[in-house]
Amino acid sequence: MPLPALDTPLLARLDALCEAGWDIFERFELEVRDHRFHPFVAADYARVQQALITHRAPGLRFLEWGSASGVITIMADLLGYESYGIELDGALVDTARTLAQRFDSAATFVEGSFLPTGFAFTPQKHEPWTSTTGSGASGYLQLGKALDDFDVVFGYPWGGEHQMMRDLMRRYGNPDALLLLHDVDDGVRAFRDRRR
Ligand SMILES: C[S@@+](CC[C@H](N)C(=O)[O-])C[C@H]1O[C@@H](n2cnc3c(N)ncnc32)[C@H](O)[C@@H]1O
Repeated sequence: MPLPALDTPLLARLDALCEAGWDIFERFELEVRDHRFHPFVAADYARVQQALITHRAPGLRFLEWGSASGVITIMADLLGYESYGIELDGALVDTARTLAQRFDSAATFVEGSFLPTGFAFTPQKHEPWTSTTGSGASGYLQLGKALDDFDVVFGYPWGGEHQMMRDLMRRYGNPDALLLLHDVDDGVRAFRDRRR
């Protein structure tokens, strides 16, 4: 399939998607995060969009770990990726599916964990290890795909989760796949960590 042209209508659609995403996140802060801890914090959509544009090519399959309201998975779909998101919070999965309908997107969302069954991360002794990654049934079975079926994977790690995500990708990902990690200070960083 050829990639959709990066023309004015597509860019306007992407702008509208990001705007809708920020509205959803503002509401989520008021209704949820102001009352209790929740790990959903929205990434810098403009920087993620730039990374997805930089790395796009025909026929790429994209996965978002912890897809929350779905903005980034839908963005990848609009840019021509075959696009999937896994999210632990079922209410957010509903939000993402509604947003996908609104933007006429074929992005697919499943409720579950992005951690494959049996994955356990052992941090190096000197590494500080904090995590907000939750546990639940792995989402890959529902997707009918394994982690190594994806060409581009996106994650937004909290503090100590960066090494865990890279380890997960090295052990279960496709050796040629690209891992895009959002970093509050450095924007989106790209890794192609071949399996050891
Ligand atoms: C930092 S937010 C990132 C949201 C979105 N990817 C973005 O960048 O805007 C992390 C998300 O991962 C979800 N999450 C946490 N642990 C998970 C797990 N094991 N499997 C799937 N989703 C998880 C949280 O509910 C939250 O929505």
